[in-house]
Amino acid sequence: MARGDHNDPGSGHSPDISVNVLRPAEWQLVRRLRRRALRESPDALAPYEREAQWQSHDWARTFDAGRWFVANADRRAVGLARSLPEPAKPWQRNIESVWVAPGFRGRGIARRLVDAVIEFEVPNGVTQLLAWVLDGNDRARVVYRRRGFEPARVQQPFPGWPGRTEERFVRRLAAD
Ligand SMILES: CC(C)(COP(=O)(O)OP(=O)(O)OC[C@H]1O[C@@H](n2cnc3c(N)ncnc32)[C@H](O)[C@@H]1OP(=O)(O)O)[C@@H](O)C(=O)NCCC(=O)NCCS
Repeated sequence: MARGDHNDPGSGHSPDISVNVLRPAEWQLVRRLRRRALRESPDALAPYEREAQWQSHDWARTFDAGRWFVANADRRAVGLARSLPEPAKPWQRNIESVWVAPGFRGRGIARRLVDAVIEFEVPNGVTQLLAWVLDGNDRARVVYRRRGFEPARVQQPFPGWPGRTEERFVRRLAAD
């Protein structure tokens, strides 16, 4: 299990990529990666300042609310995603908080994270994976479309961020 996080893949090296589900004892790794993600890509994710104020118990509660997946490159943590239940719809999960360290983008790591969530959730009876993409995040739109997500033609204001909107994408899984 990776303990550090990492930005520079180094020249000419093709890192060994793996994805794993975190255990509750690893919530501090989520905090570190999520803070890094929010500092680096606030426009795509959420304002940094809000979560920067959180105490340990807020992070622990957030950790417990979903399942967290970390992508490792040569055993260093370089990507994050979480799978969150949809209230009263056990056949749906949301994939959220997807982030890949800038130096590791374009190498299929987001694809590996999406695939890992699907592999984990399908045996639990999940037949639809939902993703919300903030306005202006065309790269994420491309990534999700390439992974078989389709626009659900649903838009809503982004909670707690006046003026921003998010759009829903759905990937129907095999059993749907
Ligand atoms: C969006 C993000 C997660 C993508 O991560 P990534 O590891 O670079 O994506 P991948 O390399 O797995 O790319 C997935 C697919 O999208 C394509 N893709 C990725 N970026 C692309 C781009 N800029 N233009 C065109 N295609 C692109 C890839 O070719 C790949 O397609 P393939 O599987 O058919 O080869 C990453 O850029 C990121 O962390 N951005 C900031 C945070 C963010 O936007 N999160 C999403 C919130 S909804």
